[in-house]
Amino acid sequence: MPIPDSFIDDLVSATDIADLVGGYVKLEKRSGSNIFALCPFHSEKTPSFAVNPDRQMYYCFGCGKGGGAINFVMEIENLPFRDAIEIMAKRVGMTVPEDSGAGSDLAEKRRRMLDLNRAAARHFHEMLSSPLAGDVRSYLAQRRVSKAMVTKFGLGAAPDSWTLLLDAMMGKGYSKQELIEAGLARSGQQKDGAYDMFRNRLIFPVIDVRGEVIGFSGRIIGDGEPKYLNSPDTIVFSKSKNLFGLNLARKSKAGMLILTEGNMDVVALHQHGFDSAVASLGTSMTADQARLMSRYSSNAVIAFDSDEAGKRATLRAIPLLEKTGMGIKVVGMGDAKDPDEFLTKHSPDAFRTLIEGSENHVEYRLMVIQNSHDTTTDEGRLRYIAAATELLSELGSKPEREVYGARVAKTAGISTESIDHEVEKKIGLRNGRERREQEKRIMQPAGAARGSMGSPGNLKQHSAAAEEGLIRSLIKDSALMEAAAEMGFSEEEFTSDFLAKVFGVLSKRISQDRDTREALVLSEFENDEAERLSSLLNKNEALHPSRQTIRDYIDRIREDKFKTKEPDSATLLELMLHKEKKDIGGN
Ligand code: CTP
Ligand code: MN
Repeated sequence: MPIPDSFIDDLVSATDIADLVGGYVKLEKRSGSNIFALCPFHSEKTPSFAVNPDRQMYYCFGCGKGGGAINFVMEIENLPFRDAIEIMAKRVGMTVPEDSGAGSDLAEKRRRMLDLNRAAARHFHEMLSSPLAGDVRSYLAQRRVSKAMVTKFGLGAAPDSWTLLLDAMMGKGYSKQELIEAGLARSGQQKDGAYDMFRNRLIFPVIDVRGEVIGFSGRIIGDGEPKYLNSPDTIVFSKSKNLFGLNLARKSKAGMLILTEGNMDVVALHQHGFDSAVASLGTSMTADQARLMSRYSSNAVIAFDSDEAGKRATLRAIPLLEKTGMGIKVVGMGDAKDPDEFLTKHSPDAFRTLIEGSENHVEYRLMVIQNSHDTTTDEGRLRYIAAATELLSELGSKPEREVYGARVAKTAGISTESIDHEVEKKIGLRNGRERREQEKRIMQPAGAARGSMGSPGNLKQHSAAAEEGLIRSLIKDSALMEAAAEMGFSEEEFTSDFLAKVFGVLSKRISQDRDTREALVLSEFENDEAERLSSLLNKNEALHPSRQTIRDYIDRIREDKFKTKEPDSATLLELMLHKEKKDIGGN
């Protein structure tokens, strides 16, 4: 995408990574040139996430995530490159140059779609006062939704008509095709081959944390199928990565997010003073949504429907949220089917009491396990013990395991020692399994370029280490590129495509006389590659590369190639010439 390279370099230079990261996580302690924090990308109790202000990089020694400022924003905000650049530019008061040419089409299309969505939301909202929307108004009254909530959520009406929205939006200059692409219309037999997607529905705009209208959710008025209709995924909307109500809940001071299943639950909760309620958008909770939640609060209260589906959804959501490190509570709705009904039947105070007295997730899960086994028979008890100890073995803290272990022992009617023993056994098994998997990962070819950890004597690995060393040295001191050039070394000589790419980026920067600081080089790589590169750059190795270092690495790479495959005559000649030069030239 043609944002000028020079702009990106300037932006990265203008950004202080410690400052940037500090806006998301608490930077705790300095150690050497690093500042450590709890890693936002995996759950941990002691900080292994390091920010290096000198090198303008971050790296987590625990999970291996790493990169420069742009990578960090992409990773934590879950954004594509271009959007990360926008956010970063805004932060430091720079303006991303308007790009021209084919590559800017997507950005322009996204902007148009967001504008269209906003216009559509406004139209739906205005429709609410039209004579055509009497049904929707009475439905809102029947559900006791207040005026204030209608405004706060920007609720709207799609009257029972085929082309109301289409006509209105086309009147504003949007094309039929644009409406179809935004999921607001469908192509079909009706007038001019298209008709409104949302008809006879109460409209909930879905607004993201930046305040953009990214999609819609429409509830049918009265009976009809489907009960809820959601925008399809578009270039601006992904159901699995957003939450309904988060635009409001993120501003809450409640210190927790309340996760519900339904849009109506969210509206009802906000109306009764619980301003931190959100809902997943008609999908079961995803890891992305959990991660998104954890960015705005460190506590989650799960308040799903009380039916079987709700219970299953709760059990699925718990591990996803747990992985983010959030504290988790689960509230049961008792005699109500969902939070909305609970509030109608009872009171806000009752709901508050519900939250305060709610089980934490371990209790909840143990209860579910207990309820699904008949502990009055021996066989049922054994199965209960197996499932409960499996759960206990997943708990990170020993006191937790002890407290709940005692409870399980009591329910099962056996000694706590037997339970402890079983739990320890399961932990041992799992640790072994994880270790084996880790070893397997390291030995895999994809991992070869990552480390010099391979078995000794393995030529491929040997060469991989030399290739890595070469890249590390060149990034450390780009003037050394000259030494590589003198040996006629080229990109094609790498066995690792990834390292070849890094080498290409470096050479290009040098030839264009651009800065080769690692933070800037990193900005040219996305996600996995940035992670790989920063892991390589963070390898503990005191390194003061000289021209000789470069020559040695290149020799090693060439020797290995020589040994692993029959060299063609040209390579052979090249090898001999270099050897000669080395023998004669010295230094
Ligand atoms: N949902 C959906 N598609 C459906 C049904 C439900 O996307 N066909 C989503 C909606 O986001 C809805 C949520 O799942 O808000 C909960 O569904 P459900 O429990 O059936 O809705 P109710 O809470 O009963 O909704 P209402 O109160 O409006 O009847
Ligand atoms: Mn419901």
